[in-house]
Amino acid sequence: MDGNGRWASKRALPRTAGHKAGSETFVKTVDACDRLGIEVLTVYAFSTENWQRDKEEVGGILKIMHAYIIKYVPELMKKNIRLRILGDMSYFDEESRKALEESERKLQNNTGLTLCVALSYGGRNEIRQAVNAIIAAGEKDVDEETVSRYLYTAGLPDPDLVIRTGGEKRISNFLLWQSAYAEYYFTDTLWPDFDEDCLKEAIAEFGNRKRRYGK
Ligand code: IPE
Ligand code: MG
Repeated sequence: MDGNGRWASKRALPRTAGHKAGSETFVKTVDACDRLGIEVLTVYAFSTENWQRDKEEVGGILKIMHAYIIKYVPELMKKNIRLRILGDMSYFDEESRKALEESERKLQNNTGLTLCVALSYGGRNEIRQAVNAIIAAGEKDVDEETVSRYLYTAGLPDPDLVIRTGGEKRISNFLLWQSAYAEYYFTDTLWPDFDEDCLKEAIAEFGNRKRRYGK
């Protein structure tokens, strides 16, 4: 979900106003994916690297995400949406961790769209912690399926389509292991401007790609 800062700058607004606008796009996108029958939506909300931004911006983004996750639980419940938080929770204080876990727990038996929020997420960090957990568990003959089981995304399918907004053409540590065969879609549209038509356009292009998985 890239381009919030630039969206705000273009309007001479503070960066946090961009994140606020971005959170509205996020809510609409969840809704659209739900209606379009998408099984899993993962949003990259905050990376482990984003912790290095200035304190005020980090605080602003996290406040918006926490508020969303807690405030929308009843609505997500009504829509039968399941929630998974993907990320390194050790960065958060006890209270925030508990609140996030509680939201996940309340929604865990839902059977509709699975909404994954990558929060304090980094692909390399995820693989690193999986390696440590695999060693600690004394796993032998580690195959690809074993690695997948130790990632935050355990039990979820690999992504088919990865969309990056905001014009950058890089993956910035997002779902490194899981995206091995994902189709990438890059658009210059800034995240706050990414509406349902933009989403449908990305899905339509995805539909035209030929996936051979190296065969
Ligand atoms: C994406 O928007 C939101 C997060 C990384 C949390 P940016 O904040 O990266 O916006 P730009 O790239 O500066 O426009
Ligand atoms: Mg950016």
